[in-house]
Amino acid sequence: MNQEVIIVRGNHTLKGDVRVSGAKNSALKLMAASILGQGETILHNVPLISDIELMSEVLARLGATVVREGHTLRINTADVDSCETPYELVSKMRASISVLGPLIGRFGEARVAMPGGCQIGARKIDMHLVGLEALGVAFDVDHGVLAATTPNGLRGTHVYLEFPSVGATENMLMAAVTAEGHTAIENAACEPEIEDLANMLNAMGARVSGAGTSLIEIEGVPLSTLHPCEHTTVGDRIEAGTFLVGGALSGGPLTVHGIDPAFLRMAIMKLRAMGCDVETGDDWITVRREGPLSSVDIQTLPHPGFPTDLQAQFMLLAALADDVSVITENVFENRFMFAAELMRMGADVTLDDHHAIVRGVDHLEGAPVSSTDLRAGAALVLAGIVADGETSVHHLEHIDRGYEDYVGKLASLGADIRRVSADSLR
Ligand code: EPZ
Repeated sequence: MNQEVIIVRGNHTLKGDVRVSGAKNSALKLMAASILGQGETILHNVPLISDIELMSEVLARLGATVVREGHTLRINTADVDSCETPYELVSKMRASISVLGPLIGRFGEARVAMPGGCQIGARKIDMHLVGLEALGVAFDVDHGVLAATTPNGLRGTHVYLEFPSVGATENMLMAAVTAEGHTAIENAACEPEIEDLANMLNAMGARVSGAGTSLIEIEGVPLSTLHPCEHTTVGDRIEAGTFLVGGALSGGPLTVHGIDPAFLRMAIMKLRAMGCDVETGDDWITVRREGPLSSVDIQTLPHPGFPTDLQAQFMLLAALADDVSVITENVFENRFMFAAELMRMGADVTLDDHHAIVRGVDHLEGAPVSSTDLRAGAALVLAGIVADGETSVHHLEHIDRGYEDYVGKLASLGADIRRVSADSLR
């Protein structure tokens, strides 16, 4: 496929209104949960991004039918008759591992290729396995394929996760809904997307309580009592945070719509600490800045801590702030690759293990840069909008995984931005 490149002219400002899409990191799991519904589930506010297409392919391979109608997906899983998710799909999108829990919850077995790592880290799944084994699942790794069985059925249990892993919490949750008896997940992930998933499972007849807190409790119900439902995905808090950083960079005012401000409390706190004014309403957030950007220290942590998925975007803000900011990445072991690309635009960043010391500079210079992961790519485009001169951002496949119409939305906010084929630059 012909590579495309984003060309963006600098010294522009982003202002106005933009509506965020549904949350990628919820919609993917809601799609997996539809396996438990054994009929037609209708999902609204599903973003038009490549990861959703890949998850649709995973479900189709299992025997489901997925029909897209704009931002609505109709997923019929009545005819799902396979438990196999092959490497060719898992290798394209590691979030395919999210079908493990619902397949076990419905069939008591699953065969899912072991996901590999990615640019930002090893992305192990040991906690998924420990949690599911506590529910009675037996695993065997057979030539890279994870073979799950439940020789004595699924039984409720009490699990204490050693780290509040989002994926492990979700897989356990989707298996535990049909386990015999009571399950408690302690030190569970508290991300808003977990609550969204639990709300959908409960609409399907499950009995989940405490989602969004670190103690989730599930009363198992017979599979036969679970049924399809109609559900609307929550807004994407990381997309919203990305646009808010764009507004903070150039002063705004910029308003994001379709997002619950409670999802972004820590990011809003840090924007205010950096000198921004932030106003919020029921489903919108406005950012503006008149004065200089102040430096800030950030520690990425599981929710409600500062989200790792906004780390690159805030490093960009810090790169243009006065004084020195220290950003500590505690969630992934290799999520500073963005810094190297930002330094090519003139940023002053020193990396020391999982700390980034960012000394503010008064401007960045446009340059050819490459996306290393989805959030770094989005941040590089924002850097190009405020830098001097022209920036070309390469490897757009990362951005397309998680940002619907990123170029169109930025253009509507005032960016001078276009997407061209790489050949046209030669
Ligand atoms: C989800 O990944 C998101 N992806 C990530 O978003 C997000 O950064 C992450 O949660 C943290 O919020 C999706 O939801 C599809 P974790 P996930 O399990 O579930 C380690 C984006 O940009 N770990 O909480 O994989 C793991 O290696 C993406 O949208 C284990 O060691 O996150 C990582 O270092 C990037 N063993 C840390 O925990 C395990 O069994 C957090 O992982 C599981 C995780």
